[in-house]
Amino acid sequence: MQPSSKVTRRNFLVTSGAGATAVCLSRKTNGYTGTEMSAMAAADKLTGVSKWDLDTPALCVDLDKFEQNLRTLRNTLAGTGVASRPHGKTHKCPAIAKLQLASGSIGICAAKLSEAEVFAANGIDKILMTTSNVSPAKIRRAMALRKKNRHFIQAVDYPKNARDLNDAAKEAGIVADVVVDVAIGTRSGVPAGDQAIALAELVDTLPHLELRGVISYDGGAQHIKGFKTRLEQTLGRFAASVETFERMKRSGLNTEIFSGGGTGTYNILPKAAGVTDVQVGSYIFMDCQYVEIGGESNDEVFDDFASSLTVVTTVLNTYFPGSLTTDAGAKALTLNKPGPWVIGEKGFAYNAGSDEFGVIRYEKAERSYQVGDKLELVVPHCDPVVNEYDQMYAIRKDRVESVWPVLARGRSQ
Ligand SMILES: Cc1ncc(COP(=O)(O)O)c(C=O)c1O
Repeated sequence: MQPSSKVTRRNFLVTSGAGATAVCLSRKTNGYTGTEMSAMAAADKLTGVSKWDLDTPALCVDLDKFEQNLRTLRNTLAGTGVASRPHGKTHKCPAIAKLQLASGSIGICAAKLSEAEVFAANGIDKILMTTSNVSPAKIRRAMALRKKNRHFIQAVDYPKNARDLNDAAKEAGIVADVVVDVAIGTRSGVPAGDQAIALAELVDTLPHLELRGVISYDGGAQHIKGFKTRLEQTLGRFAASVETFERMKRSGLNTEIFSGGGTGTYNILPKAAGVTDVQVGSYIFMDCQYVEIGGESNDEVFDDFASSLTVVTTVLNTYFPGSLTTDAGAKALTLNKPGPWVIGEKGFAYNAGSDEFGVIRYEKAERSYQVGDKLELVVPHCDPVVNEYDQMYAIRKDRVESVWPVLARGRSQ
């Protein structure tokens, strides 16, 4: 874990820009489009392009912070015996998945089949699909994916779905790997206890399925504010999954996988018995929603990981006192709350409620702004924001180092 210097949210807004420029006051910029940037990247001609030269809104990843986040996760998990299997739903970007695997993660999770197909087609083979596929077409496609890729694992939470998967696997001429999704809360999964055990036993008896273990994700636990409360509630709610897992183990069922957790519980789930890996997603980017929940060493700010994901936006209107308009509205930042934070400006309230415009209200600004100036924003919630962009720019010290296509963007089926 990186050392905490008791960053308050107010400090955070100012210090997030440290080491790089927080705003770009009017100067002649190139305004390179996404197409131009892709062409320059393909021709290896990115050298010297500044993030302020990008056409806006532009989605940027600060590489120093991103790499620090990869290291923090690896170092924190080292010695716990628990691995990471990051969730690809966060970034939808095979280039990032490859960096996570290179940093020691044991696989990548996928939320949607179309997303999994994109990852598989772009060199990611260790994929765990955490959502069940229930329609006949999707079941066939999932089994086709498994046929091409022996590391593909599918979640199941209903006996009928297990039988349907078995039939499709038989038709495809394979034995497919399956994990039982044990519910915490009511969103998805089979209830812990007898029903989950019965499903695991059924999977174990179906000749074209191979039981690999359990996944159990608590969506409601990740954003609980305050580390102590989060710790107690997470472990309390996870207890039934642990008990189910242990019963499965005692009855000789395969329990080689026991996967769960997310960024909010990455350092909590390893305290539960039997957990093999955490399905962290947002840790690479750290959005406003996550910063606000507080961490183990700083109850106000979750600063274990650094906010690496930003949107660069251009000021379009400055006529009206106490107000600025930008080119990043709901389609660039989504409607998620809290509103985006403007790096370098403590007193700005950003409203991304308008489709195409961002509106900033303020009483006091650190500097005066003109039309054409650029601001950098920490995003409210990373997953849906990433899904709005064709590509991300990987930035080091304000320079674009790489262009990362968000290849699974919009793959929500
Ligand atoms: C099944 C599953 N696993 C893990 C995650 C972890 O995501 P994060 O670390 O961004 O909270 C999610 C997020 O929604 C999820 O749905």
